[in-house]
Amino acid sequence: MTKSFKRYTVTAALPYANGPKHIGHLAGAYIPSDVYVRYLRLTGQDVIFVCGSDEHGTAIPNQALKENTTPRAIIDKYDDLIRTCFEHLGMSFDIYHRTSEPIHHQTSQEIFLSLYNKGLLTEESSEQYFDPEANVFLADRYIVGTCPKCGHTNAYGDQCEKCGSTLSPRELINPRSTLSGKSPVLKLTKHWYLPLENYEPWLREWILKSHQEDWKPNVYGQCKSWIEAGLQPRAMTRDLDWGIKVPLKEAEGKVLYVWFDAPIGYISATRALFEEVHSGQLKFATPRRDLGKASKDDWKKYWQGSDTRLIHFIGKDNIVFHCIIFPVMLHATGEYIVPDNVPANEFMNLEGDKMSTSRGWSIEMHEYLADFPDKPDVLRYALLTNLPEAKDSEFTWKDFQAKNNNELVAILGNFINRAVVLTQKYFENKVPLQKNLQAVDKKALEELSQYPAKIAASIETFRFREATANLMDLARVGNKYLAETEPWKLAKTDLNRVGTILNIALQIAASLSVVCEPFLPFTARKLKDMLGVGELPWEQAGQPDLLRAGSALYDAPLLFEKIEDAVIEAQIKKLLDTKRTMELASQPAAPAKTEISFDDFSKLDVRIGTILKAERVDKSKKLLKLQVDTGLDVRTVMSGIAEHFSPDQVEGKQVTILVNLAPRKIMGVESQGMILMATDKDGSLKLISPGEQVSPGSVIS
Ligand code: 2FM
Ligand code: ZN
Repeated sequence: MTKSFKRYTVTAALPYANGPKHIGHLAGAYIPSDVYVRYLRLTGQDVIFVCGSDEHGTAIPNQALKENTTPRAIIDKYDDLIRTCFEHLGMSFDIYHRTSEPIHHQTSQEIFLSLYNKGLLTEESSEQYFDPEANVFLADRYIVGTCPKCGHTNAYGDQCEKCGSTLSPRELINPRSTLSGKSPVLKLTKHWYLPLENYEPWLREWILKSHQEDWKPNVYGQCKSWIEAGLQPRAMTRDLDWGIKVPLKEAEGKVLYVWFDAPIGYISATRALFEEVHSGQLKFATPRRDLGKASKDDWKKYWQGSDTRLIHFIGKDNIVFHCIIFPVMLHATGEYIVPDNVPANEFMNLEGDKMSTSRGWSIEMHEYLADFPDKPDVLRYALLTNLPEAKDSEFTWKDFQAKNNNELVAILGNFINRAVVLTQKYFENKVPLQKNLQAVDKKALEELSQYPAKIAASIETFRFREATANLMDLARVGNKYLAETEPWKLAKTDLNRVGTILNIALQIAASLSVVCEPFLPFTARKLKDMLGVGELPWEQAGQPDLLRAGSALYDAPLLFEKIEDAVIEAQIKKLLDTKRTMELASQPAAPAKTEISFDDFSKLDVRIGTILKAERVDKSKKLLKLQVDTGLDVRTVMSGIAEHFSPDQVEGKQVTILVNLAPRKIMGVESQGMILMATDKDGSLKLISPGEQVSPGSVIS
């Protein structure tokens, strides 16, 4: 039986504010949720769309340690970065909140206390890993070790990022502290647990029985295996100093588990939205006309009204938290609704490998926007056509280029451009009249009328790839119609017929401006401006008369531009370079040599010299024969660098030379000194040159 709903609460996973986020995150939760919400708004639904920064958990102080700063500085920095990127990519949240805000602390503590006061949390003392050196219990991301499921050697205490398994620190093999790098010891501590096992019958009924049909198989399958494996109590508190204080006297020094507070962030964001709209002081909320008369308590309708449809958009690593743990928390309070659907996506890989910021194999949102500031829609489109909806998918720069050049430019852009330019040319930029429809015209209008419903059906069932393909197919209908009717050939003989054809083409363009808005919001804006179309509801798309004959068209800039091969090659090179840099940075430096005295050091006469001439040496692959101006003299140095540099790469360069090394014969030539080089971690050699030009003979001391 399908339930009818009055309103929607749509959430997108709160990203950890511990670093930049990449396009895999966009493909997982953000772009699909934005398409869905924009579509709901166009259909006149009452919907709120909430998100924000997840600012607690060990991930934050861990990053602060890496950047040698405070957790507060980390969350401020990355909240700002992520928030700005989302804005530039067109994410249309009603509020992008922060879990460090007081209203969130209050809401989380209230929900904890509501469960505690009902006697629904169990207390348990147990031995947990502790780092005696750092004097800290090692929860979640403060501890790493080998994953018992897949053998990955850097699995976190809460999750293995390689195989996606949810873990607890005691399951890790060879655990070590991320604070000191040492093996931890066990120490007794008390925590409060959510006894998930008590909710098994309810979960079986709610998920396994009621959502077998409408939840995605990947989501349903994960829930089923969790439930069937036997649910365990899960600790909802942690021994940490960063987070929301547990609101109990006996819990001094303890905070709420980040996965207890983060999803509550959706609720506190909604509370903040209504408080801000009510007071008129928008801090995190986006202005919304339709919420103008909202009362502060209206947030309750969106979280406690049984006629509200709650949808969580997430990536697959978050399924258990959104389908089991958070719903159990909400259900246990007896006050909240639970999600009606959780359309989680799988992962998007990049050029044949898993996307990972720490390994340098990713495209970060801010980097994409820096390189392609005027192309947010191109990224949205490339991701949408390739979403990991049923299984992991793959982003490649070549595919990105092809989606832009072969679809956005060649199909959508080309169709709009032809319709508008021909109207400019033959009808003074005014929509011509439609007269005496022929079969081909009726067929085009008939096809047009069907597309909005087709696209809507795909969106409503969370099939965004299919919806995007349908959108582009509508542009294909337009192109095919122009190709069949060839108005450019008729201008001299039958201008009335040209007018009819262009009217129909422009009607298709006008519908496209409406239905492309969820997918390509920036393009939709430009297209509407070009056609002089206002904000039309979805239900009007597909109609044959959206544009009135005689109405004016406006400036017609190209909607999309071709992306050249060189641009794509530069991106691929950048990716490979970043990965190499990260790999080198993660390798240990060569071990230190034994100590020497200052006297030993001062015996070395090291100077800057200029290489005047360089030549290869017969029968030697390794040697270059150099003439070096040392400031004292010009001397010959035989240097083993021929496999790294050609003669013309070093000629004229200033280098570092040890001038008082005893001369020795190499390949029959006396070598009078040694050129000093830096050997990188991958074995490549780099010349050591002064930061700016200096006189040959300058002494290094
Ligand atoms: O995986 C993550 O990035 C989490 N910060 C998602 C949290 S979603 C919700 F619970 F807030
Ligand atoms: Zn694993």
